[in-house]
Amino acid sequence: MTVLVRVAGLRKVYRTGEVTFEALKGISLEVAAGDFVAIMGPSGSGKSTLLHLVGGLDRPTAGTVQVGGRKLHALNETALAKFRRRQIGFIFQFFNLIDNLTVQANVELPALLAGGDRRRVRERAERLLERLGIGAQAHKYPWGLSGGQQQRVAIARALINEPTLLLADEPTGNLDSTSGQEVLDILEEFNRQGQTTLIVTHDARAAARAKTVLVLQDGRIVDRVPGGDVRRIAHRLTDL
Ligand SMILES: Nc1ncnc2c1ncn2[C@@H]1O[C@H](COP(=O)(O)OP(=O)(O)OP(=O)(O)O)[C@@H](O)[C@H]1O
Ligand SMILES: [Mg+2]
Repeated sequence: MTVLVRVAGLRKVYRTGEVTFEALKGISLEVAAGDFVAIMGPSGSGKSTLLHLVGGLDRPTAGTVQVGGRKLHALNETALAKFRRRQIGFIFQFFNLIDNLTVQANVELPALLAGGDRRRVRERAERLLERLGIGAQAHKYPWGLSGGQQQRVAIARALINEPTLLLADEPTGNLDSTSGQEVLDILEEFNRQGQTTLIVTHDARAAARAKTVLVLQDGRIVDRVPGGDVRRIAHRLTDL
């Protein structure tokens, strides 16, 4: 087993003026290459904070984050931005697409920013959009699409640079049940083909797709549940 993500003794303290809040209180975890991990837990338990630290969107107060052998806590801003662009794909609850760019341009953007060749980037974007069943939407703008279609565009954008690690924060949180299941089918299929994936979710059915479920409470990991075990996951959640 190759360990792709190694987190040790991770703490995050937010400071707002005089007020401090410890959102993560010492998290340690490992994610193997090819794994599909779901993070669950009540609102405010630190799920998004953890995901942001793993993806290098924010910095820890203490502890270490390593992704593919890179020590994120030791990188300067420029190196961290480069790391994010090349190695990490992010999917958000509210899609975060750019409204005045077409679907195609939204998907191409991270690859062009990474210095990709225009023609090759276009071909790659077209292939991804086709594969996600939204090839016909390529020249529309995000606001002309359904929620489920917008999230597919966001998935294509997250995958365009073939990231080492795909991170998704409540990717089905803003979708109806059917579109949500379709998005999960897509994530599962990419995982089956080797894409290491870490998702945050409130939905026990979404977590059941994962190979491992980590339960977070009050800034700590309080349980690790095998993914397929829907009943145990659901039970664990009602306990919290
Ligand atoms: N920028 C910030 N400044 C101050 N406090 C913050 C900040 N971001 C998060 N917090 C606090 O840290 C705690 C964890 O927040 P986080 O967003 O990680 O929770 P979450 O588990 O993702 O919750 P949700 O399920 O509601 O998205 C919360 O109490 C939150 O209020
Ligand atoms: Mg959150």
